[in-house]
Amino acid sequence: MTYEEALQKLSPAGQEHLLQYYDELDPRQKDSLLAQIGDLDLSLLDLVKKGAGEIEKGKLEPMGAVTLEEIREKREQYEKRGLEALHAGKVGAVLLAGGQGTRLGLDKPKGMLNVGVHKELYLFEQLISNLLEVVKKADAWIPLFVMTSEKNNEDTTAFFEEHDFFGYQKEYVFFFVQEMAPSVSYDGRIYMEGKGKISTSPNGNGGWFSSLAGAGLLDKIHELGVEWLNVFSVDNVLQKIADPVFAGATMEAGCVCGSKVVAKAGPNEKVGVLCLEDGRPAIVEYYEMTDEMIHSRDENGRLLYNYGVILNYLFEVETLTKIMKENMPTHIVEKKIPYINEQAELVRPEEPNGYKFETLVLDMIHMMDNCLSFEVERSREFAPIKNRTGVDSLESARELMRENGIEL
Ligand code: UTP
Repeated sequence: MTYEEALQKLSPAGQEHLLQYYDELDPRQKDSLLAQIGDLDLSLLDLVKKGAGEIEKGKLEPMGAVTLEEIREKREQYEKRGLEALHAGKVGAVLLAGGQGTRLGLDKPKGMLNVGVHKELYLFEQLISNLLEVVKKADAWIPLFVMTSEKNNEDTTAFFEEHDFFGYQKEYVFFFVQEMAPSVSYDGRIYMEGKGKISTSPNGNGGWFSSLAGAGLLDKIHELGVEWLNVFSVDNVLQKIADPVFAGATMEAGCVCGSKVVAKAGPNEKVGVLCLEDGRPAIVEYYEMTDEMIHSRDENGRLLYNYGVILNYLFEVETLTKIMKENMPTHIVEKKIPYINEQAELVRPEEPNGYKFETLVLDMIHMMDNCLSFEVERSREFAPIKNRTGVDSLESARELMRENGIEL
């Protein structure tokens, strides 16, 4: 793209300021800036005009789950089926580690967080240790795909190398990098983070499968015979990965996807709830629920919209391949975005100052014909580290880890 073409692209959208420092750049930086402008998807800016949270929902209805009790009864049967599949190499795991963890405010990948107290215990290390338990049981290595972003790929891969993959078989770990999207101010002006660098951020966790495919890893998946992928987040330190009972239950139910859920701690807990939307599985966010939905209960006093998702899903690869090209809704999310001010100095704001654009893995659920809602015990499987203090923090996760007998 030439300077003139870039200007032509930016002007109608009122974004010419991206070229403000063009003349000061060296030839390499100029080329790089023009390429960034060439890649920009300006249609995203329309979403800012529409406002946040404007994605429309269809008709919502409650959806039950396979409960803890039911799972207890059929545990052996499920586990056997799951372990067979795992032993045959049919289940892979996908670690979503492309996020920036802005709420935690680390200057390195979240997985590098030391959750130990008397010893070093990194988030990545604990997750690998959880996965290794299943490797042992299944007596087979489980392919692990790790999604990073442009911002943290180098640090993440170096950290794994440095720590000898925390005892995992290196040949079974595959990194891939997700795509980026521009970050904008509240009035839709694209931020710059350097004179020749547009401010971008990872485009959400919803694009994980197309990024994986884009990195050429679908061939690897077929070569290895992987038929199912268990997607999970980097920050739930009690996460059970490639859980044979969950995998077996999803397969036995004949579903194309499964989601681990926990019973809500109370009506007002801020979690996405698995339900039905126009007869198909879907996740409704807490802020999209009406008061009536939040408080209605069944005849046993159980909340009708009771099962919150914990970002642990199992998807059939064949179905993922079919839906890969379908459009996913884009969410606009308020975040703290570093930017250069009028003096071209880099500012790292303390408070949110604009929007990022993200697609979300939870929206994939609505693209599935069915989904097994699989209840798990919160105190055993859900200890996310999202915030610096308080709810879902390092402190609360450490407490839960201790309760589960993990030495810190
Ligand atoms: P979160 O929604 O908690 O986002 O991610 P985050 O970026 O980690 O943290 P905040 O909101 O800025 O504080 C849930 C999971 O999805 C991954 C994260 O790494 C985490 O495992 N994720 C998120 C990605 O892989 N890519 C993204 O673009 C966003």
